[in-house]
Amino acid sequence: MTPIPAGRHVAAITGGAAGIGLATARRWLADGGAVVLLDLQQDALDKALAKLGAAAGAPARGIATDVRSTDSVEAAYRSIAAVEGRLDAVVNCAGIARPAPSATMDDAGWAAMLDIHLSGSMRSCRAAYPLLRKSRRAAIVNIASVAALSGMPGRASYTTAKAGIAGLTRTLAVEWGREGIRCNAVGPGYVRTALTDTLIAEGRLDDGPIRARTALGRFAEPAEIAEAVHFLCTPAASFINGHLLMADGGLTIDGNWYE
Ligand SMILES: NC(=O)c1ccc[n+]([C@@H]2O[C@H](COP(=O)([O-])OP(=O)(O)OC[C@H]3O[C@@H](n4cnc5c(N)ncnc54)[C@H](O)[C@@H]3O)[C@@H](O)[C@H]2O)c1
Repeated sequence: MTPIPAGRHVAAITGGAAGIGLATARRWLADGGAVVLLDLQQDALDKALAKLGAAAGAPARGIATDVRSTDSVEAAYRSIAAVEGRLDAVVNCAGIARPAPSATMDDAGWAAMLDIHLSGSMRSCRAAYPLLRKSRRAAIVNIASVAALSGMPGRASYTTAKAGIAGLTRTLAVEWGREGIRCNAVGPGYVRTALTDTLIAEGRLDDGPIRARTALGRFAEPAEIAEAVHFLCTPAASFINGHLLMADGGLTIDGNWYE
């Protein structure tokens, strides 16, 4: 394990082995920081760490963590306290997508989505809090979505979880602001990651209408979302607290209903 040099700012990223989380880790490292990826599978973490150059000395490590488990999340942050000894940013990216019609969605499917996205973000913030309090530039960024602001057919559990994340973000911003912990959210539009690639491949997402309804006419790359996340994590955003920053290519503000 590469020891973290003193003075490096440390970010913990749930769902950090892929997609937006991995791109955020890359961005944090580029800025001279150190990252700890929290994700489900050790083999996926190992692959992600290889992509980040951990073997060549990049200050990155992974902890197999399931955000559905309080014990697992608390163990991950205990490890960060013991190994890195500091924590400056938490980015909650862990998530899945399972569209299902509301009329036939079962309780387990509903609960699973809320558990991973909403309760998982809460568990991570809560377990990180004692470490974040000690940082002089503590920031949390939760990953919401255009789903936090829009009704989307067949996605009741996802839109509810993401709207809940916006609420959690605002409340933590108020509750922890005086302790120097800022809490914001980023609301991505559609991003080219394994999550959307899988839905498209399974025929559960048609990218044509989405590109047509996105003012920029395309999906985002994960690195474009990582820039917004990174900004909110840094002192450049020192007076931004409780904000939901949409990084959606204009999807949610598009009032062009005329063509
Ligand atoms: N891709 C998009 O278009 C898009 C749009 C808006 C919001 N989002 C949100 O961004 C976040 C990241 O999505 P992505 O597109 O990068 O997906 P991704 O599938 O590329 O990455 C998600 C990561 O989360 C991990 N994960 C899933 N369940 C977990 C659990 N229980 N514990 C720990 N880790 C877990 C996965 O293993 C994976 O590595 C999600 O919250 C998603 O809802 C994505």
